[in-house]
Amino acid sequence: MRTLSLAPVSQYREAMGQLLVLYTQVDRLIMEICAERIATAPDEPARLALAKQVGDESRHVCIQRQWMERFGTTTTPLISASQEAMIREHFRGLPWLEFLADLYLCVEALGSEAVENIVPLADPGTRESLHVPLSDEQDHVAFGVSRLRDELARLSPAQRHAFVATIPQRIDRLTQAFHGLGIDVAGLFARVGADYDSLSAAVARRRDELLQQVAA
Ligand SMILES: [Fe+2]
Ligand SMILES: [Fe+2]
Repeated sequence: MRTLSLAPVSQYREAMGQLLVLYTQVDRLIMEICAERIATAPDEPARLALAKQVGDESRHVCIQRQWMERFGTTTTPLISASQEAMIREHFRGLPWLEFLADLYLCVEALGSEAVENIVPLADPGTRESLHVPLSDEQDHVAFGVSRLRDELARLSPAQRHAFVATIPQRIDRLTQAFHGLGIDVAGLFARVGADYDSLSAAVARRRDELLQQVAA
């Protein structure tokens, strides 16, 4: 009985550790992507928001690194150096509107939705380590959504509709690219006790909500 009950615990710790590594890698990538974007952002409010986000993401990386050390996670990266370079390249090449859609709707909002669904299943230490990062992510999403709405309001109705119509495909393409990284995200989620189908359904609901907010 003892070994049977220990197996899921070690499985949980290993999988949660990997999810923490992934989250930290994504945060560090976002930090670098936002830092690069400051120079070409269209105006001062955008530059200030990006600069604040760089500071926030750096803090998240610090918090997560400290927690992973205490948690005893193997810190081998899940995203390889060449995959990281490909991700940076993708964001680097995006015009401002596309940058807002991909980074804030897809990575920040939908990524946070997935992490938030994991929080209730997490051990107290992990839950605590996610508290500050997740509350900052809400700020980042709020900036991205409101900025995207402002930019869209400046376009003609036809241009606006045309852009909004491309967002679901953009999200699908990024989601496919994410799965194409070869990380067994579904398996990791299952091993921390998440029901992958209901987690996917929660992300899909959030996606619809975001699309409505942006299109309104
Ligand atoms: Fe973050
Ligand atoms: Fe963020």
